[in-house]
Amino acid sequence: MSAKPNLLSGMQPSASSLHLGNYLGALVNWVRMQEDFNAFYVIVDLHAITVPQDPNELRANTRRTAAQYIAAGIDPSKSALFVQSHVPAHAELAWVLNCITGFGEASRMTQFKDKSQKAGTDSASVGLFTYPILQAADILLYQPKAVPVGEDQRQHLELTRDLAERFNSRFGQTFTIPEAHILKETAKIYDLQNPTAKMSKSAADPKGLVNMMDDDATIAKKIKSAVTDTEGSIKSDWENKPGVSNLLSIHSSLSGESVISLEERFSGAGYGVLKAEVAEVVISAIGPIRDRANDLMSDQAELDRLLASGAEKAKTVANQTLAAVYDRVGFIKPE
Ligand code: TYM
Repeated sequence: MSAKPNLLSGMQPSASSLHLGNYLGALVNWVRMQEDFNAFYVIVDLHAITVPQDPNELRANTRRTAAQYIAAGIDPSKSALFVQSHVPAHAELAWVLNCITGFGEASRMTQFKDKSQKAGTDSASVGLFTYPILQAADILLYQPKAVPVGEDQRQHLELTRDLAERFNSRFGQTFTIPEAHILKETAKIYDLQNPTAKMSKSAADPKGLVNMMDDDATIAKKIKSAVTDTEGSIKSDWENKPGVSNLLSIHSSLSGESVISLEERFSGAGYGVLKAEVAEVVISAIGPIRDRANDLMSDQAELDRLLASGAEKAKTVANQTLAAVYDRVGFIKPE
């Protein structure tokens, strides 16, 4: 075991492609942080089935997500890259944590409120309700110091910390208290068609999100049709010019050029010029990732082998935590 601190993060395999928000809000940071941390990156298929999934699509999307992690720079020889359902300890710890979570506490989770409103309360599953508690189990099994995520996960991280502290004080020191690592500049990437809402796979209009697996022409088309405003000046002003501010922020985080420098350089130019350059920057950043992901997907056996080896690494750590938890709560060990 290396002396580096542990890190865990994950994404749902609930679409055929990750999007630019997943990449800039989380994945870029994952790639960077795997150097200094003993990292665990999980594809959360148990979470994905909290809303209906087609089984064949889910299988394909799980492998596609793995391919995109690797193509973006996650190195499976350095970090444990695995599928949640391959490590039964996730569901097992989730049960124990369900039993120390208050009903009211779980009811306050805003993501559940949003999603259940969309689905209609009757069709929202109990799994969707306990989703954040399974997420807490994902995290706490690996004793991570850091959890790199986007802004929308902050509340789930707070719940995770609360549950860890509660368990520790009831049953004795068991869990490390994890910290959310949220990149300030890219904590929330906005929808291109509705720039006050976060970019999300459940967007009303598919033109609002750039997918990592989109071809170059599609990316260019989506960026060129991004909603801006009628004022005509290129500056970052989130309150009055969310569309232009989002484009500047996407450009800056991919190109490394500061927003101030972009504002100066584009001073007096029209939105068409800005959009054309943003499209170029996005294509040159994610085009190669898409191509690599497609290559990786052509060898399914190799992908499955990498995932199996990641699951073995993950199990070693997860099973140790789960055994300590079972012992603390008073379960007898099997003979
Ligand atoms: P998911 O699959 O919705 O998103 C994966 C990651 O992408 C980030 N993200 C964004 N960041 C910036 N701007 C956006 N528009 C944007 N959209 C998504 C998310 O914050 C996230 O970091 N509940 C989690 C999955 C999960 C998890 C975990 C995460 C399950 N267990 C344990 C961390 C640790 C989710 O639904 O992420």
